[in-house]
Amino acid sequence: MGQFLSNCSIDSLNAAAQALKDGSLVAFPTETVYGLGADATNELAVARIYEVKGRPSDHPLIVHIADIKYLEQWISEIPEYAIELARAFWPGPMTLILKRSALAKDFITGNQETVGIRIPDNSLALGLIEAFHRLGGVGIAAPSANRFGQVSPTTAAAVSEEIGDYLIDSDFVLDGGPSEVGLESTIIDCTSNAPRILRPGAITDLMIEAVTKVKVSEDINKDLSGLDIRVSGSLENHYAPKAKVILDQQPIAGSGYIALGDIPTPVGVIRLAAPCSVEEFARTLYESMREGDHQNLASIYIEQPTGAGLAVAIRDRLSRSARGR
Ligand code: TXA
Ligand code: MG
Repeated sequence: MGQFLSNCSIDSLNAAAQALKDGSLVAFPTETVYGLGADATNELAVARIYEVKGRPSDHPLIVHIADIKYLEQWISEIPEYAIELARAFWPGPMTLILKRSALAKDFITGNQETVGIRIPDNSLALGLIEAFHRLGGVGIAAPSANRFGQVSPTTAAAVSEEIGDYLIDSDFVLDGGPSEVGLESTIIDCTSNAPRILRPGAITDLMIEAVTKVKVSEDINKDLSGLDIRVSGSLENHYAPKAKVILDQQPIAGSGYIALGDIPTPVGVIRLAAPCSVEEFARTLYESMREGDHQNLASIYIEQPTGAGLAVAIRDRLSRSARGR
């Protein structure tokens, strides 16, 4: 089950950081979703992440650091616009894909020449990573703390539900309350002359363009040679609850329903969420889908928010959820 810590004092963060250093796993909150962390330089520890998640081992992991000064150890090259992005949006819900250094081994990068790096904006996450750095650690590899293909956890209870059975006594789960953003970070490929969004998130194309003055390139999920980049979050059947997700259709009686609060609930339909804003929609979406599964609903109807910004990220995840598992 792992050790569940809801009182995350400096002592418990130090204990969790020591566990990471010793090769154990620590699930921790971030502002996007909860991550399942391991020492990013420890091959055996990283192998356990794949085991616990049930994830194919050629999928790359994001390395989490606490300060921009740790970036240079992980990468071999960085364009000017990526430095500007790092300065503007870190700590924050953004992952930069950069050319790797020798430190970023194949077991982190999925045999690719690039590495994904992020500084999360969450005090517990930063406290944990800082404690880990104090012990000499250079970065924490952390995918979302869900079983492969499932909805990402945005609470510690959801982490336990997803992977509790696969954790062992020396592992930790840190409880930091619900994630503030609720959707995974924006992933930006920074290996060519313009930034390219591989996974939309709370840092939007307009925000990127405002900071870099460079137009965001649009052909997502293709690398320079036109091949598919292995972004597992871009697999079509991902982010899916057990219930069937049906988008933008009139819900039938007995099914679950998620829509913005100004949209009324049809008779006989089980309202799972009525968020008042797109931000609240993102923050509560995964928990609402989990609630549908807890109620054993066969289907969840979701009215997608329209427009630009965060709504793009919501629709990205929903279109994948709707393809099922
Ligand atoms: O918000 C987030 O990014 C969360 C929190 C825990 O930080 N993490 C997360 O990790 O969503 P994960 O592993 O569930 O999704 C990360 C995505 C994967 O689809 C992976 O393929 C992609 O990032 N990725 C990681 N490194 C990459 C690389 N070098 N090139 C292309 N894609 C990469
Ligand atoms: Mg994930």
